[in-house]
Amino acid sequence: MRIILLGPAGSGKGTQGELIERHYGFPRISTGDLLRLEVQKGTELGKMVADVMKSGQLVADELVLRLIKDRIIDPDCQAGYVLDGYPRTLNQARLLEQMEDNRQETVLEIYVSEEAVMERLAGRRVCPECGAVYNIKNNKQTIEGRCPVCGAVLTVRDDDRPEVIRERFRIYRETIGALLEHYIKKQVLFRVDGNRTVEEVFGSIKSILDERITGSQGESSRP
Ligand code: AP5
Repeated sequence: MRIILLGPAGSGKGTQGELIERHYGFPRISTGDLLRLEVQKGTELGKMVADVMKSGQLVADELVLRLIKDRIIDPDCQAGYVLDGYPRTLNQARLLEQMEDNRQETVLEIYVSEEAVMERLAGRRVCPECGAVYNIKNNKQTIEGRCPVCGAVLTVRDDDRPEVIRERFRIYRETIGALLEHYIKKQVLFRVDGNRTVEEVFGSIKSILDERITGSQGESSRP
């Protein structure tokens, strides 16, 4: 099973991807996290993408593909994996299908309002050590500014500035139409209302995935 999470910045792809990983055991692969790691390590690839990411633009397809290709061949991906942030363009979807054309696919589009996104991302804090993600609104324990898991000082992502968030949202709107059309044609797209609590959103995702994994189609949330 290949689970693809679509949704704008702040829609909760990372949060839900973690819950899917914990519940079903499929590893979450976040292209954003993989790219940020390259930047942090100062690799050649990291140097090439740092400014692009800071401005909220998309990284070139061939660079992201390289990371995905290396990751999905790992043994823990054999039974399935969750893609968080890939594909983002129709071309990326096609490249993925060329790489692995025999996987069952479930695509979950998490939709949220721009207003909710702006509020969530303004409150997002990330742990530079263990990668945990928090929100100062929901996680009262982060008020001290330290990660409740490992104690590191929490930071704000470089691309979580309001003008960059708006740019990421604009790019998402520009590119998502063709992708949705592609997955509707393949009959693998399911829509999930992300304007609810984390638990409610996961409840909807779980019912779709349970039906998919046991073989029926989860028609109710198909567009
Ligand atoms: P990436 O890291 O993928 O960022 P994104 O898609 O913009 O998504 P986010 O990580 O900002 O949000 P999310 O949907 O994961 O939300 P989260 O769960 O964290 O990509 C970053 C950059 O890398 C891109 O701009 C691009 O430059 C590059 N890139 C990555 N992939 C690429 C690709 N395939 N091609 C080209 N370039 C690529 O939640 C956000 C906050 O809200 C958190 O604080 C969370 O606690 C909170 N929250 C979550 N759910 C809820 C809820 N239901 N209610 C209230 N709060 C919630």
